[in-house]
This record gives sequence, structure tokens and C-alpha cells, in this order.
Amino acid sequence: MSTALVFNNYGGPDTQELIERSIPLPGPGEVVIEVKAAGVNPADWKIREGRLGRHWKLPAPLGHEASGVVIAVGDGVDDFAVGDEVLGLPAEVYGGIAEHTVLCAENTVLKPEEISFADAAAIPVAGSTAYDVTHQIELDAGQSLLILGAGGGVGLMAAQIGKVHQFTVLGVADASKKEMVESTGARFIESGDGVVERVLRIVPEGVDLVVDLVGGQPLRDIAAVAKDPKNVVSTADPATAEELGGAGVVRTTETLGKITEVVKYGLVSPYVRARFALADVQEAMATAETGHAAGKVIVEP
Ligand SMILES: NC(=O)c1ccc[n+]([C@@H]2O[C@H](COP(=O)([O-])OP(=O)(O)OC[C@H]3O[C@@H](n4cnc5c(N)ncnc54)[C@H](OP(=O)(O)O)[C@@H]3O)[C@@H](O)[C@H]2O)c1
Repeated sequence: MSTALVFNNYGGPDTQELIERSIPLPGPGEVVIEVKAAGVNPADWKIREGRLGRHWKLPAPLGHEASGVVIAVGDGVDDFAVGDEVLGLPAEVYGGIAEHTVLCAENTVLKPEEISFADAAAIPVAGSTAYDVTHQIELDAGQSLLILGAGGGVGLMAAQIGKVHQFTVLGVADASKKEMVESTGARFIESGDGVVERVLRIVPEGVDLVVDLVGGQPLRDIAAVAKDPKNVVSTADPATAEELGGAGVVRTTETLGKITEVVKYGLVSPYVRARFALADVQEAMATAETGHAAGKVIVEP
């Protein structure tokens, strides 16, 4: 048997439960892994709360990114073998926060030995999203990239990607995250009242690309600093970004291999800052669910 985190009803954290289930078998095009680490994402609690629709069959598993060791390989999978260390996106019906899960081979890559399992577990969703959102609109070296929500899982990696490209990176976050945001090489700007004035004091001409990881009113406020409203891209609130003239992030599958290489060469760190055992998963979920997490939250079964 194998332990996994599920939610039994749409609602609050009290609907989450660790259950025992059979170790999954791989279908065609799938691999089964013994999970070594799983990333916790805002999507987990948003799905549980029903904010992203109610089409999940209950009880539904949680967790959208994982790393581990392959223990079984399905038909038609040529790229992976039992014993391989991998990272990837779990099949939706199995989830990632579990002792064992199923990965679709096409959404899986080998884990380079330079990357720990914990760091690897932050790459499939947070790392890939950071890559996509910073590449959706191409900037040249020296142009400015502002990240709203720079101190979270996606933001810290997006800031580092911006520095790799030699953009001028401005990271907006709570004062408690100043040091962490600055450690990426970004210029820190405190969030909250007066943020637009603080940004424009540094870049009076406005910002070339605004990456929004927060949404809602903070997005509406910060969008004013974009030189061109088209250059506002949001992972958190595509509807508001579109209303303002920008766009939601477009996710791409080939990104997983690219960001994994970037992490392998030490150019980007996933900033894993909170690690929990599976037995403490409720605490892990609660940490992420504050909406003010610093860096990445990981569960290690
Ligand atoms: N579409 C996709 O494929 C996709 C994929 C991944 C993530 N996402 C979305 O992208 C967003 C970010 O994800 P994440 O994993 O980075 O979340 P996270 O780790 O929770 O980070 C969010 C960050 O936003 C900051 N924040 C909250 N309110 C803020 C405000 N008013 N001003 C500035 N910063 C504020 C938080 O801390 P402080 O307020 O303390 O600074 C926190 O550091 C989420 O909404 C998530 O659902 C979408």
C-alpha cells in the first residue's frame, strides 16, 4: 500500500486527508515513481476550494509536481527505465503528494545528478512557469522586467531567469522578503500602498515587461507602470490581465527540459525554503495557503 494526500470535498483544509491506496500501475506512455519530493503550489488549494472548477472526481489527489525514482514503466515508454531519477508532472488522477505516483512520460525528464530531489520537485510547475512567463514577451539585455510577487516559488526563479538574460529586474514583495529577493540580483521594491511611485522613482520611463504572480487589485495597480499594456503577463489572474490589455501566461511543454538544464548549471535556484515530511503535510499545505510563502514549499514522503 501507499500513502497519498486527497481532498474529500470542495472546501477548506479540513477536507484534506492522507489515505492508503494501492501502488499505481503504469498505463501506456506512463511511468510510476517512488516519490522523493513533491512541490506544493497555490493550484493545490485553489483546486480544493473549487476555484478552478469542480470536475475532479472526489476524493481527488493533490500535488502537481514531483521528483523520484522510476519503479515501473508502461508500454511505449522508451526514454525511461526502472531506477532512473526523474522529475515531472503527475497524472491528474494520482497527484504528486504521495509515496508513489504516475508521471506521463512526455511531461517527465531525467533528474540531473547536480539537482537534489527537493530542488527537482520545484521545477515542473514553478520552474516551468517562471521560464514561460519570462519568455512570453522577448526582451533584450538591459530592458526592465518587474515581477509582482517576487518572493514566492515562481517569482524567485523568474527573477533569476531575468538576471541570466541581463534584464534590469525589479522584484515587488513584502518587506520581510527584501533580503531573499535581493539575493537573486533583483532590485527590491516593497509591495503595498505607494508601490507605483516607488517603481517610477527607479524607472521613470516605465517598465518593459510586468510579470504578475498575484492578480486582483495589486495587478490593477502595478499595471500602470508598464510602458505598453500588452506587456503585462499574468500567471495568477489572466482575466484581469486581459481586461487591462495584457495576457495570461501560455504554458509550453518543451520548457521542462530547458529549465531543468538551467537549474543543473546552477544559473537558477528553486529556493526551497520549507521542507515537510508527508506526516506533516497539513502544515505544508497551510504554509503555502497563506499566499505569502517565502520561496518554495516541498513535501518529502
Ligand atoms: N497558470 C499556471 O500555469 C500557473 C502555474 C504556477 C503558478 N500559477 C499562479 O501564479 C501565482 C504565483 O504562484 P507561486 O507558486 O509563486 O505562489 P507563492 O509561492 O504563494 O508566491 C506568491 C507570492 O506573492 C506574494 N504576494 C501576495 N500578495 C502580494 C502583493 N499584494 N504584492 C506583492 N506580492 C504579493 C506573496 O508574498 P508577500 O506578499 O509576502 O510578498 C508570495 O511570495 C499563483 O496565483 C499561482 O496559482 C499559475
